[in-house]
This record gives sequence, C-alpha cells and structure tokens, in this order.
Amino acid sequence: PLPAPYTVPLPIPPVLARAGLSVGADRYEITQRQVTAEILPGVPTTLWTYNGTYPGPTLESRRGRPVTVLHRNELPVPTTVHLHGGRTPAGSDGYPTDLVLPDGWTEPDGAHTMHDPRAVTSRVTRAYTYPLDQRATLLWYHDHRMDYTAPAIWRGLTGMHLVRDAVEDALDIPRGDRELALTIADRAFAADGELAYPALDPELRERPGVTEPYAAGVLGDVIVVNGAPWPVHEVEAVRHRLRLLNASNARHYRLEAVTDDGRRLGLVQIGADQGLLAAPVIHTSLPVAPSERYDVVIDFGGLPAGSRVRLRNRLGRGRTREVMAFRVARAAPDDTRVPAVLSEDLPTWRRSQATAVREFTFRAGRTGQGHGWFIGGKPFDPARTDVRTRLGAVEVWRFRADVHHPVHLHQTGFRVLSRDGGAPLPHDAGLKDTVSLRPGETAEVITRFDGHRGRFLFHCHNAEHEDMGMMANLEIE
Ligand code: C2O
Ligand code: CU
Repeated sequence: PLPAPYTVPLPIPPVLARAGLSVGADRYEITQRQVTAEILPGVPTTLWTYNGTYPGPTLESRRGRPVTVLHRNELPVPTTVHLHGGRTPAGSDGYPTDLVLPDGWTEPDGAHTMHDPRAVTSRVTRAYTYPLDQRATLLWYHDHRMDYTAPAIWRGLTGMHLVRDAVEDALDIPRGDRELALTIADRAFAADGELAYPALDPELRERPGVTEPYAAGVLGDVIVVNGAPWPVHEVEAVRHRLRLLNASNARHYRLEAVTDDGRRLGLVQIGADQGLLAAPVIHTSLPVAPSERYDVVIDFGGLPAGSRVRLRNRLGRGRTREVMAFRVARAAPDDTRVPAVLSEDLPTWRRSQATAVREFTFRAGRTGQGHGWFIGGKPFDPARTDVRTRLGAVEVWRFRADVHHPVHLHQTGFRVLSRDGGAPLPHDAGLKDTVSLRPGETAEVITRFDGHRGRFLFHCHNAEHEDMGMMANLEIE
C-alpha cells in the first residue's frame, strides 16, 4: 500500500558526529550494513545502508580541513565508497576495483578485479581520506563497485556530505532549519515490500547487469525524498535554501514549485555541483539529471498559513509527477536575502589556454553479454588508460551523445562551454562536475586538471549505463 502523497513527514538524515581526531584530520566511522527499515509506512524493506539509515548520515566539513572516514563493510558483497564531487587523492577515490571485501568473501570466477593489476583491495575496513580543499558545496558519497554500482545505490548506499567555507558564511542566505538538503530518488517495490530491481543475479555475486528491457536504466514509480515517499515538510513563510541532489539511478526531473492555487514560485539558483554561482539565476523549472546538485532559494514569504507548495516533476506522469510538498505553518520575520554577487572565485578558463581538445562519443554498443554502453566505441576496462594528461593542464572535452547521458568527471570541476555549438543553457551556470547531455547533443566543457595525480574515472552517471561499460580512465601525471 502506497501512502497518499504529502502525508509522510520529511526525514532529515542525522549529522554524523566526529569519532575523534587522527593525524590532523577529523575522523568518522561508518558501518555498511543490511537493515530492515520502513520507506513505505508500515512496510518493512531490506536496505543496504551506511550506519543503518537511508540516506546515510550527513557529514559536515569545513573547506581545507581534512577528514578521514573509516568504513567497515558488514554487507554480503564487496563495496567501494566514492565521494562524488570530492577532489580526492586516487587511493581514496573509491576506484571500482579498490574493493573492501566482506569477512570470508571468496572471489567468484571472472571477477574483474583479477584483470586490474592496480587494484588495491582490503578486508572488512578501509580508511578514506578527503583533503576537502575545495569550494563549499553539497557532495554525496555512494557505492562505486565495478559492475554493481546501480543495484548497490538502489538498495540504499548513498549519503550527503556538505562542505562549508567562509565565502558561503558571509552571505545572508537562509541557514539552520531553513536550509534543507534533499536526496531525491525513485524506487520500485515488490508486493512483499522489498525493493524491486531487475538484476540478472539478485545475489550480486557473479553476473552483473539488468535484464535487457532495463538496459536504458531502471526507473521506480515511487518518488522518495530523504528516504520518505512524497514527503511533506512544515515551513515558516520565509526564504528557504534547498540543496537538491538527484540520487536516482536513471530518472531525470524537471522540478517546479507550485502553490495549490496554481502559482509557480521562482527557483533562485545560487549554486551548482561545485559550489556558489557568480550571480543568481532564476528558473521557473529546473532540470536535474542523475548525480547533479542544485542549490536554490525559494521564497514562501507572503503565503498564508495553511497553504501548500508542491515540488513537482514536469517529466513525470501520474504519481511520478509529484515529489514533495511544503506546508506553510505561520508567518515569520525574514532577514535573509540573495545578493547580486554570490562569489568571485569561479575559475575562468579560456579556450585559448587549452593544450588539448578531446572528443568522446557516448553511445550504445553490443558486447558478448548483450546490450552495452560505450565511451569512444569501447566498454570500460580498468586496465586500459583512455586519456593521459599532465597535472595543471587546461583542456576542452567534447561529448557526443546518442540518448540522454549525464557525463561526470571525477577529481575536477568544469565549466560548460557550449551545447551543439551554441551557448550553454541557464542551468549550466557555475562550476559543474556533471553535464547532462540531451539526445543527439554535443556539449563542450573546459577544465584544469589541478587536483591530484593518479588514475581517475569519467563516466555516464545513469547508474545502469555505468555498470554496462560507460566509464573510462583518466591518468593525471
Ligand atoms: Cu557519483 Cu563516479 O560517481
Ligand atoms: Cu548514459
């Protein structure tokens, strides 16, 4: 039984308390474990979690203050943790073959780790170190295991990680309980209350992939925000800051905020994947692809007590059109504002600085196993270096898509330069780490590889496409 939309209260994931200090870094501990919990009220569902909740606990850090997270894997399968959007040394970036094996795990035949001579596996625990020397923004952490990322995320292995800095502190934007971090995702449930995912191998042990009709990506018919279906949240009639994350495997949203009498509220975008914009951008609706984050301010000022604002998805149909609602409780004073200048530290790389222009196709392909998704005509191979560059190099990368592909680069933020040879779209503003390619589209981005040396991924963040080969290796030397 599905709840009526806008009856379940919005959960706020717990903020993880520091476990201690070790070698100059804040230390945190997370146990990955299977639990039975309720997403649908009154219905028990088996989940894979970070510390027992979906989403996992939220981490809150300061720019430049390093963090170590000790992960302990008590799940029945290997895992690896990636901090999405983090500028992280390669050894802590959660490479798909750098697995944390559960106690007693024996490698099934044909496991890809065997073909990756550089894989560094560990048993049961692994410490991930994050320098977090980067602009304030909403990052998220999730599983990234080779071939099995999509079902692991689906079962619950995601969490949010906020980075704060002085630039953000100086703004009079909403904070405290007027700032809401929202993990938006879709899920499907079987009649017995368990998550329905069409994996070829439900044990996620030997045979990766989804059944062929789902090769385009797995969609659910229940929209879940912070782990609750179509939740409702009580607000005062003042500005609120929404930190939006699309943690869906494959679903795209076009979000709009609509009052019950049909008025659309502006979504004032102040930040992108990699932090604050230079200046706000006002949207009436906002497209959000898998793994993208948007930082928006919405003003409930002047709305009468008792009124309701729904966050809706224009790309959905029937109940997937509904996302969540805000119920206005009362008027309140509001001393926040959205300044005309938000930040002045955005990189301004120019095309003339680029020492390379590279082109990559993102297209369907056939493998021995059936349907695949390829970059540059090839499925992912951890042992192959697809791109070699030098630390500090500025490059232009051009992506060509057949269908929708949200393309994500690890390690570095980029600016969107063009779409189909023309100007970028309004929601491409700022520093991004994922660019959402539309069917048939070509987009160009520019970046500087100035983070860390080593092997990093770039890939499609449709999680099923990713598992079916749409990843490649970047070596920064
Ligand atoms: Cu969310 Cu390889 O990333
Ligand atoms: Cu894709």
